[in-house]
Amino acid sequence: MCGIVGYIGYRDAWPIIIKGLHRLEYRGYDSAGVALMDGTMNIYKKAGKVSELELFTENKNKSGFTGMGHTRWATHGAPSDRNSHPHTSGDNRLAIIHNGIIENYGSLKEALTSRGHIFKSDTDTEVLIHLIEDIQEETKLDLREAVRLALNEVIGAYAIVIMSKDEPDELIAARKGSPMVIGVGNNEYFIASDASPIIEYTKNVIYLNDNEIAYIKRDQLLIKSIDNVVQTPYIHELELELEMLEKGGYEHFMLKEIYEQPRSIRDCMRGRIYPEQGLVQLGGIKEYAEKLKNIDRIVIIACGTSWHAGLVAEYLIEECARIPVEVEYASEFRYRNPIISEKDIVIAISQSGETADTMAAIELAKEKGATIFGVCNVVGASIPRISHAGVYTHAGPEIGVASTKAFTAQVTVLTLMAIYMAQQRGTITQSKLISLLSELDNIPVLIEKCLLTNDHVKSIASKFINSRNFLFLGRGSGFPVALEGALKLKEISYIHAEGYPAAEMKHGPIALIDEEMPVVVIATKNSSYEKVISNIQEVKARKGIVIAIVTEGDTAVKKMADYTIEIPDAEEIFLPLLATVPLQLLSYHIAVMRGCNVDQPRNLAKSVTVE
Ligand code: AGP
Repeated sequence: MCGIVGYIGYRDAWPIIIKGLHRLEYRGYDSAGVALMDGTMNIYKKAGKVSELELFTENKNKSGFTGMGHTRWATHGAPSDRNSHPHTSGDNRLAIIHNGIIENYGSLKEALTSRGHIFKSDTDTEVLIHLIEDIQEETKLDLREAVRLALNEVIGAYAIVIMSKDEPDELIAARKGSPMVIGVGNNEYFIASDASPIIEYTKNVIYLNDNEIAYIKRDQLLIKSIDNVVQTPYIHELELELEMLEKGGYEHFMLKEIYEQPRSIRDCMRGRIYPEQGLVQLGGIKEYAEKLKNIDRIVIIACGTSWHAGLVAEYLIEECARIPVEVEYASEFRYRNPIISEKDIVIAISQSGETADTMAAIELAKEKGATIFGVCNVVGASIPRISHAGVYTHAGPEIGVASTKAFTAQVTVLTLMAIYMAQQRGTITQSKLISLLSELDNIPVLIEKCLLTNDHVKSIASKFINSRNFLFLGRGSGFPVALEGALKLKEISYIHAEGYPAAEMKHGPIALIDEEMPVVVIATKNSSYEKVISNIQEVKARKGIVIAIVTEGDTAVKKMADYTIEIPDAEEIFLPLLATVPLQLLSYHIAVMRGCNVDQPRNLAKSVTVE
């Protein structure tokens, strides 16, 4: 969480930083701040969104060719002006912005307080800049060395940028466990949490590695390890395009991203499926093809929506490749001494590729000898880099905090992986492979049809804007779809919603049903259709309001449900890709009609880089 931007070069830093902060606002939006070097160091910070900072600085001096900015998701210390970054040393000579958590800040703060340091905020970050100041005072070392020594004392995760009044022509950046990209221009450098603030200035970037420190002047970049060894950086070329970061005429990023799904799924399959030959090729995991033939078990780790994609994958892999699958919350897995060995393949799913719990779970599984496949969206993020192999989802940047196109791209990749595994293990006949892949190839067209339900879904949504609770029911692979539908609704509309396996309803949640309770049921024609019909009857018998997602042309459910939303018929394993779309639209419209900020829901952030 938190977004950081830095600039040093020949241009005005302010417009670059403020635009960058807007792009990174999805990472946190509790408060924002900047530091600009213009003879002296001018620092402005404000609680609230980046736009509040812009208002606050309207008549202030914003000159300077060197600067840094921060948009915060609060961990230590409530969102407020004084807890906003940048934080300064006691003598106001040094300033820092930070993304991450300094875990041992308590003991460091105690020691520094006893040495006379006075703190102006409640943050962990301020402790680090005082520590650097203290080391400099004590040792008389230069700032570079003081930063290095301080980072050696720090436990936790950080991506930091430091400015000093004494070194006005230098920025110092460092990372451990939190992302940081350096954009390389001509006589200028950019620093950011991801490439989005950089893309319009340069396509050449360096992904700083953990435990590296970058000393950056406008015409010089030196990267050293935290042990003081000079590193040779690798310059990557970005594939990102500017228009991917803009709303493109849609009212919200979330809506744009929902509508992008036919394209994002096509991009995700491009060059990977050959329907006529009944063949899937996944270059990213092909060196493990043999291992997949004999594997006894797959463990999937993820959080949130990505965990729901993992639950879909459980059905897909067990159905297609006949490999037992366990799906774990990364946050639970990492703390419970899981039984994992070198025989296991662990699939880590993450849109951002930076989720702290998922990263820690990967490290644990790696220690135990497992092979890690990463399924990530952000190219070059930490998870793909710490995984042994993997498959990118190629959904393009997802800016809306609520995940939409990233989920369907994850499910697409996991479908490809399941079919690839089946191919290796011979668990699906060639003719079935051909028919499945032909249908998969056509899924983007079917998603376009699902999107045509938008107006109808919007009119249904209008009936439920005052609902206080929702239940989502599904069976088989419809169950994770129900969970995802419920998560979308609660995160953007703040309506309480629960996803349940339809048959479990009678073991408890049925007590909640009355004439006020909307129940969304995934009731498409598949192997559990008849059973779901019985569940709908159980809801109706208790006067619940049923909104059913049905297969085109369905008549039976239509007779029972209060509202139906039709989606095209498809092979059962592709159901999650289609049924998810109207649920995304339903939450979107309910949230918009309730006046909620759908792109930046309260208390959330796009990448959860704290545990
Ligand atoms: C999705 O709508 C959520 N905002 C959230 O649950 C998210 O899926 C979760 O934090 C995992 O993120 P990741 O995919 O980037 O690892």
